[in-house]
Amino acid sequence: MAALKLLQLSDLHVTPHAGELMLGIDTEAFFQQTLKHAVDRHGPFDLILLTGDLAQDPCADSYRRICRHLSSYNTRCLCLPGNHDDFGLMQTHLHTGNIGCDKQLVLDGWLILMLNSQKIDSPIGVLADDELAFLARTLESHAGLPTLIAVHHHCIASGSSWMDTMRIQNSAAFLALIKKHPQVKAVTCGHVHQTFTKHEGQIALFAAPASCFQFTPHSSEFSIDDTPPGYRVFRLYGDGRLQSEVFRLPIKMTDLDRNAREY
Ligand SMILES: [Fe+2]
Repeated sequence: MAALKLLQLSDLHVTPHAGELMLGIDTEAFFQQTLKHAVDRHGPFDLILLTGDLAQDPCADSYRRICRHLSSYNTRCLCLPGNHDDFGLMQTHLHTGNIGCDKQLVLDGWLILMLNSQKIDSPIGVLADDELAFLARTLESHAGLPTLIAVHHHCIASGSSWMDTMRIQNSAAFLALIKKHPQVKAVTCGHVHQTFTKHEGQIALFAAPASCFQFTPHSSEFSIDDTPPGYRVFRLYGDGRLQSEVFRLPIKMTDLDRNAREY
């Protein structure tokens, strides 16, 4: 069987109104360019994962525009919320054809899980008791399937100390749970606007770049980096192995407001 090919896009930060700039850039245009680059260079994909912060200040129109852009690729898409999102609006407006906010999908012998780490009105992540219960229940009922977990917030230190105050608060409980299930092959997140590849025992931990502006790696405070937007590609094999690689747009971020102190 050929490998499953997945695209992960994260942290779109699409603004409420089309054409609006954020930190000097048009985040919606960058999302469209990033998606197009990924599909042109590495597609077609079996599945696209959107791992949170789809909208900057969430409103129905942001999600409708995101849905319209995704729809033109006729590819299954799963979306989960980040700290900036309104999950209720996402479930209403990212719910058509191939696009949805389902929490689980079995695809060619792999289990894909989409967790909600949102803590309402906070940039910090948490996996609520019912989310951990869902995870435990679903892993137990699909024990034979290699599993990829997607979640917005990171569960391990990224090296950016200001960002690490906002990781999943109860990461220890999450990691203890997934280590009890050797079928879990990888966890991939967004939120950090930078990439990493780490390991926790046999489990690979990945972070995807943002499709808009990036944060400076290993910074102790908020800092915008001029690395271009990017995305992650996964290849999932039938024997439980996986490969992952990050790609970036071949552009210079000339309009970015590097003096911004918050976002
Ligand atoms: Fe973000």
